[in-house]
Amino acid sequence: MHIVITGVAGFVGSAIARRMLAEGHSVVGIDSLTSYYDPKIKLANLGDLKSSKFEFIEGDINYIDLADALDGAEIIFHEAGQPGVRKSWGEEFSEYTNANILATQKLLEVARSISTLRKFVYASSSSLYGDAEGYPTSVEALPAPISPYGVSKLAAEHLCTLYGKNFGVPTVSLRYFTVFGPGQRPDMAFTRFMRAAILDDEIQIFGTGEQIRDFTYIDDVVQANYLAATTDTVPGVVYNVAGGSSISVNDVLKIVAEIHGSPLNVRYTTPVAGDVFQTGGDITSIRRDLNWSSQVDVKEGLKRHYAWALKTFAGQSASL
Ligand code: UGA
Repeated sequence: MHIVITGVAGFVGSAIARRMLAEGHSVVGIDSLTSYYDPKIKLANLGDLKSSKFEFIEGDINYIDLADALDGAEIIFHEAGQPGVRKSWGEEFSEYTNANILATQKLLEVARSISTLRKFVYASSSSLYGDAEGYPTSVEALPAPISPYGVSKLAAEHLCTLYGKNFGVPTVSLRYFTVFGPGQRPDMAFTRFMRAAILDDEIQIFGTGEQIRDFTYIDDVVQANYLAATTDTVPGVVYNVAGGSSISVNDVLKIVAEIHGSPLNVRYTTPVAGDVFQTGGDITSIRRDLNWSSQVDVKEGLKRHYAWALKTFAGQSASL
């Protein structure tokens, strides 16, 4: 198959690309290599994708020739976006509207006229639920984001649904619940905790640490994408991709300390606006339609994440 992946140099995009190349598909990857975090990390992700079947286009979806980049695409995995729940306030918001909303609309407009297209899979987010009415939260629940980031991911998801319902663009939105595992973004909790532990640095916890997350292991997220791309679904459908843990950040710290083999240096600071207290996804519909459920639990996933962190950070300076 001919596959296009936006955000191919990121944590999830590069993991999907590795899997698709391993299965023998050809991949065109697009990424603008923004400096939200060190682009060297993204270049290293790209380094893993060396293959005669991989072509890289460096550029912003809002400006590149999309008709050319998407020509002949059978599957589009749209993973590009401006991440970061806690940084989406203030002037930064225009980056979220450009990268998450406008770019998605441009892709969908072009996708409408691609006759080869079989699936358009969009990386949506659990953050659009906000402080949900109940847990595990069903895809039918009314989304009520509490961060500008969540608003932008929800707007883009609605666009995918609209283009599916009105024009038959074969969109599937996957609402990822806090993805973790080897290669996790450097601004996310587990990578920050493990890097600090390994370099004997301080771990900062926003709030009491009693906040609860449904963490999802990267290989399970890749598998959900694979199944969404290769199974017949109704245009515009939405699924939760939730790992099934309901664990507090404090309990995660206990497991990390156990794996690390010595106590962690933890400091509690003020909570950050936009951070939801709890996430938890009901996976009834994705289990039924795609036969997906998570295979790696949080404890096993943390062990694998830590092994990667040790290779990546040991020997670095804490001040970096
Ligand atoms: C993550 C991603 O960063 C988002 O891009 C994604 O859209 C979202 O998951 C999602 O599920 O949709 P978040 O749940 O905030 O967002 O992920 P983490 O960075 O792993 O944070 C988990 C918890 O740890 C949060 O409550 C956060 O406040 C806390 N945390 C994080 C700390 O206490 N200290 C840190 O240094 C980092």
